[in-house]
Amino acid sequence: MKRGLFITLEGVDGAGKSTHLEWLAGLFRARGHAVRVTREPGGTPLGERLRALLLTEPMHAETEALLMFAARCEHLHALIRPALAAGEVVLCDRFTDASYAYQGGGRGLPAARLAILEDWVHGGLQPDLTLLFDLPEALAQVRRAATRTADRFEREQTDFHARVRAAYLQRAARHPERIRVIDASGSIEAVRAQLEQVLTGWL
Ligand code: TYD
Repeated sequence: MKRGLFITLEGVDGAGKSTHLEWLAGLFRARGHAVRVTREPGGTPLGERLRALLLTEPMHAETEALLMFAARCEHLHALIRPALAAGEVVLCDRFTDASYAYQGGGRGLPAARLAILEDWVHGGLQPDLTLLFDLPEALAQVRRAATRTADRFEREQTDFHARVRAAYLQRAARHPERIRVIDASGSIEAVRAQLEQVLTGWL
């Protein structure tokens, strides 16, 4: 089966990954690749409806994790696997590392529970590359305040976001071959320079 490239973008809220997503898509398109830009939770009609609930509706942490993976299951079946099979580059704004960071680190669910859902839903598929946009929580907070109205996750306290960041960095330490940490504290140009370096060999 012809296989495209699966790249995910991760980071705490305010890290700036969304700013870089379209630019990354442009890099791949300029080299002649077919690119699919998508996001989680979301990416399918059902997934986007689940997203609307997840970002607004109070719910138990376990329900939240299950709905994240339900949206992901649909996303994998309806969009990600078919696009990869067609040889496309799939750029996904957040994926399963976010569940380990937010539902695991942030909400305190055991990683072993999430691993059961990951095994079930992924069926062995993993991103080829994950770009983790990392920056200190104090700076992320300033950026969040400057750019948007807060959703249910962004309204969480500083210690929640600090736990999310720590869980992301732990994931990166465990999967150094897949997850590349990008220092997102600098200017857009400084971040782009790092991205170009990391992507050498993938473009
Ligand atoms: P985000 O990707 O930051 O979108 P926007 O830039 O439009 O705010 O918002 C998605 C939120 O969902 C984010 O706060 C993290 C959360 N999330 C989880 O808690 N678990 C997950 O598995 C995923 C994919 C996202």
